Amino acid sequence: MLVLVTGGAGFIGSHIVTALRSAGHRVRVLDALLPAAHHTPPPVPEGVEWRPADVRDRAAVAEALRGADAVCHQAAMVGLGKDFADAPDYVSCNDLGTAILLAGMADAGVRSLLLAGSMVVYGEGRYACGRHGVVRPGPRQVADLDAGRFEPPCPHCGEPLAPGLVDEDAPADPRNVYAATKLAQEHLAAAWARATGGRAVSLRYHNVYGPGMPRDTPYAGVAALFRSALARGEAPAVFEDGRQRRDFIHVTDVAAANAAALAGIGGLPEGTLRAYNVATGTPRTVGEMATVLAAVTGGPEPRVTGQYRLGDVRHVTASADRIRAELGWSAQVPFAEGVADFARAPLRALA
Ligand SMILES: NC(=O)c1ccc[n+]([C@@H]2O[C@H](COP(=O)([O-])OP(=O)(O)OC[C@H]3O[C@@H](n4cnc5c(N)ncnc54)[C@H](O)[C@@H]3O)[C@@H](O)[C@H]2O)c1
Repeated sequence: MLVLVTGGAGFIGSHIVTALRSAGHRVRVLDALLPAAHHTPPPVPEGVEWRPADVRDRAAVAEALRGADAVCHQAAMVGLGKDFADAPDYVSCNDLGTAILLAGMADAGVRSLLLAGSMVVYGEGRYACGRHGVVRPGPRQVADLDAGRFEPPCPHCGEPLAPGLVDEDAPADPRNVYAATKLAQEHLAAAWARATGGRAVSLRYHNVYGPGMPRDTPYAGVAALFRSALARGEAPAVFEDGRQRRDFIHVTDVAAANAAALAGIGGLPEGTLRAYNVATGTPRTVGEMATVLAAVTGGPEPRVTGQYRLGDVRHVTASADRIRAELGWSAQVPFAEGVADFARAPLRALA
C-alpha cells in the first residue's frame, strides 16, 4: 500500500514510518515541522516521499493524497501546553487540520484511516467505590491538591476509590484543551466514516516513551522531562506524591500497533470507527519511571515535589484486551528493558 503518514517526522510518526516500511508499504510523509516539535528538520529516511506542508493546507493535502491507499494521521499539537492561550492553536492544528484531511480523503476516495488517538479522552481512568461500585470522580479541586490530597474521592460518599483498568467503552471525559481536541478528532473521523463508507481506527496511545522523544518543553511527556533533568545532572522533579498511575508504552510497540491496524482495518465494518487502547495493561507509577531512569543513568534520586498541574488526571491505566483479540497486537517491550534503552537513547533537541 501507499500510506500517507501525517506528522511522520515526529516522535511516534518517525517510528511508524520505519514499521510500515519494514512491513513492505510505501510511505509518504506530510509534516509541517512545527517549531514546538523540531528545531532543525530531521533527516528524511531514504525511500520516503516527503511533503513539508501543513495538514491545514487543502491543496497540499490533496496533492499528498494522490494515489494513497490509507492515511495514518499523527500530526497534532501535543501535551498540556503553557496555558489556556494555547487553545486556538490546539483546536486549529488538531481539529481543523483533521477536518481538512478528512475532506481531502472524501474527495480523493481514500477510505482507510488510522488515527493517533489518546488515553486523554478518558479523563480520570476507571475507579470503583466499595459502596457505589464503578464511579466517575469529579474534577480535582485546587484546595485538595494544595493540601496534598491527590486521590479523587467517591463523588457520592467521599470515601477513597480503587483505580482500575479502563476499557474502550468507558465514557469520554476530556479534562483539558488537548484532550478535548483529541476526542473531537475521533468524532470527526467517525462522521467521515459514516458519510463516506470509510473505515477508521483510533489507536488510543497511553504514555509513549522511547528514542527520539523531544526534550524538555511544555509539550513533552513526563519521561522526557525526567530524562532531560538527569541529562543536566539534576534530580527528576516528580509532581504530586509520585504515586499517580500510568501505562508507559514503548514507541516501537506503538509503531507495531499501527502496522497491525493497517493489516486489520479491512476486516472492520464499513462506515465505522473502532477505538483500541494501545497499552501494556500493566500499571506503573510516575515515581517508578523517575526512579528507574535515575538508577539506569546513575543520576540523582528523584525529588517528590508535591507540585501539580490542574489539567492532569490522577490515574489512567488501560486494558489492552480488545486490540489483542481483534488485531492480534500486544506490547512486546518489557518496562525495565524499554526504560533502560530509553535512558541511554538520544532525545530530540529542540533548542
Ligand atoms: N507522545 C505520547 O505519549 C502520545 C500519547 C497519546 C497520543 N499521542 C498522539 O500521537 C501523535 C504523535 O505525537 P508525538 O508524541 O509523536 O508528537 P510530536 O510533536 O513528536 O509529533 C507530531 C508531529 O506532527 C507535526 N505537526 C503538528 N501539527 C501539524 C500540522 N498542522 N500539519 C502538519 N504537521 C503537523 C509536527 O511537526 C510533528 O512532527 C499525536 O497525534 C498525539 O496526539 C501521543
